[in-house]
Amino acid sequence: MVWKFKYGNPFETEAVVGSIKETEGNPPFGTLSLKDGFCYQYELSKNDVVYGLGEAVRGINKRGHCYISNASDDPNHLESTRSIYGAHNFIVIAGEKNFGLFVDYPAKLTFDIGYTFSDILEISCQDANLYLYVIEGETPYEIVKQFRKMIGRSYIPPKFAFGFGQSRWGYKTKEDFRKVVGGYRENHIPIDMVYMDIDYMQDFKDFTLNEENFKDFPAFVSEMKEQNIRLIPIIDAGVKIEPGYQVYEEGVKNGYFCKREDGSNFVAAVWPGYTHFPDVLNPEARRWFGDCYRILTEQGIEGFWNDMNEPAIFYTPEGMKEAYEQMRECAEDENGKVSVFQVRETLVNLQNNRKDYEAFYHQVDGQMVRHDKVHNLFGYNMTRAAGEGFERIDPDKRFLLFSRSSYIGMHRYGGIWTGDNKSWWDHILLNLKMMPSLNMCGFLYTGADLGGFGADATRDLLLRWLAFGVFTPLMRNHAAVDTREQECYQFEHVEDFRHVIEVRYRLLPYLYSEYMKAAVFDDMYFKPLSFEYPQDTFAPQVEDQLMLGNEIMIAPVYTQNAKGRYVYLPEEMMFIKFMPDGSVYEEKLPAGHHYVEVALNEVPLFIRGGKCIPVAETAESVAELQMDTLELLGYSGAEYLLYDDDGNHKDYDNPENMKWMKKLS
Ligand code: NOJ
Repeated sequence: MVWKFKYGNPFETEAVVGSIKETEGNPPFGTLSLKDGFCYQYELSKNDVVYGLGEAVRGINKRGHCYISNASDDPNHLESTRSIYGAHNFIVIAGEKNFGLFVDYPAKLTFDIGYTFSDILEISCQDANLYLYVIEGETPYEIVKQFRKMIGRSYIPPKFAFGFGQSRWGYKTKEDFRKVVGGYRENHIPIDMVYMDIDYMQDFKDFTLNEENFKDFPAFVSEMKEQNIRLIPIIDAGVKIEPGYQVYEEGVKNGYFCKREDGSNFVAAVWPGYTHFPDVLNPEARRWFGDCYRILTEQGIEGFWNDMNEPAIFYTPEGMKEAYEQMRECAEDENGKVSVFQVRETLVNLQNNRKDYEAFYHQVDGQMVRHDKVHNLFGYNMTRAAGEGFERIDPDKRFLLFSRSSYIGMHRYGGIWTGDNKSWWDHILLNLKMMPSLNMCGFLYTGADLGGFGADATRDLLLRWLAFGVFTPLMRNHAAVDTREQECYQFEHVEDFRHVIEVRYRLLPYLYSEYMKAAVFDDMYFKPLSFEYPQDTFAPQVEDQLMLGNEIMIAPVYTQNAKGRYVYLPEEMMFIKFMPDGSVYEEKLPAGHHYVEVALNEVPLFIRGGKCIPVAETAESVAELQMDTLELLGYSGAEYLLYDDDGNHKDYDNPENMKWMKKLS
């Protein structure tokens, strides 16, 4: 059962695709006040659990803190951080009553989930123009499935995107890329993608290539593809202001950039210096920006990552002017009214400043819409621009696409990566906790920067993180410039890395099959344990294990120096470890709590009672995977429904893509 309430005059985000009849009045559960903006309250029972919010810090159970939907370029993913890149306003309350809430509102929205008062859930925003959806269901899992139907089918990448990818901010030349590919191929560590960060561009200009370093780019793309490597370039939100630069000229000429109130083009500094933002909320501008991707697809590129699309602002000319004035005042009279500390504060606040987000406009249906009122839709619509562009470029081809910023609705066009984490053990666990919440909101193709983006990775951290990353649809090692080099071949005993990544490829038929079933049937790929075992009273407390697909549970090790970990089994399961010599360790464990030993170079998983999973021989790339020699691991007599297809086209609903397999002995 779904109720849709309309308050005021909401902005049409197109997050929901189906048509749902509006209901008048108040939501069936909780109380609502529209006196001072929007304020919804619900009294939580003692044991109620609150799931959701997609990309957010803290637990799978979101109870006990305050979160703000306000797409933010914040590289500090701390317990206290309230907003990161995504704004995913869907939660499920599970316990005394089971229901879901989706607040379709594209500006700043606060979820106080037992933070001010431990038993009160409060959702509030200043401006009561929104849609509220209330979804009732038997279980939280049922509610999620209903919601997923409402928001439409999740994005499906090409099969190669399920391989392993290497990235680093700082690769500049063809030689840099050849070195990375060589490092993997010579060490026989499987790999399918190498990512191109901003340095491939000419002066950080979108859709350009550095003229000196990337002469004859199509030949280089082919050279890589011959080795089964796809190059995946980054595209940033800001378009450099530079007379003569085609994308800039076209945008200015056609009025496709975001405007100030006086109609001039809004200016913000990002990597290239001063830029304009494409007005991706304006359908015409979106079409134009989407068509720009053709410049690179025509040179053989098959995938992209969209970055800085909160949109991130380093500073604006207006902000700089104020800062200079303050600095001048401070310099002229050291004991005057402006202190050094104030100047420092002003400089820090130049970045992603609220005032700047209030100073530019989008053109939607002939109206000027102030950016801060629709702030959370920018990354969504930049990625939609690309997704819609690909439809025009080649409607039957799947392109790889993921974004940093997002809103529900974007899940139909691309995946996300979870942004600038750090080489911290805690961030392995944060990565794990975000995955089911993201799946609830439709984001299936997701993953974190394995090994950590900021700070220096250690060998053990990377190995443990990869052993979890084996299971995330997006499996990418990425790091920031000036951090320790963390490509797998940079560390001693490279064979351990080879083995862990080989396990990804061995499991790929299963992981791909479960991903595709989740996408095609609006289901979840990663689930909290409680979604599968609703009667189990301990399951809702488990915050460091996940169900993956219908057959397995994962429980990665995320603590430094640990030799294993405690794990909770809601039912009998088969404990599997992929051993470094290529063999598979199997042990049936009864339901309950166990300590399991897992060495740094082993990959553990648990097969649910009575089930089995397909496993392939390893391969060095997705293209080389043998699908006709699959073996089944798990319980004898178990059957598995395998989904497979060519991985490039969109024939998802063909019944021939599914076939049953049976484990005989
Ligand atoms: C910020 C992104 O989050 C990061 O992944 C990227 O490396 C840098 N921008 C540079 O492009």
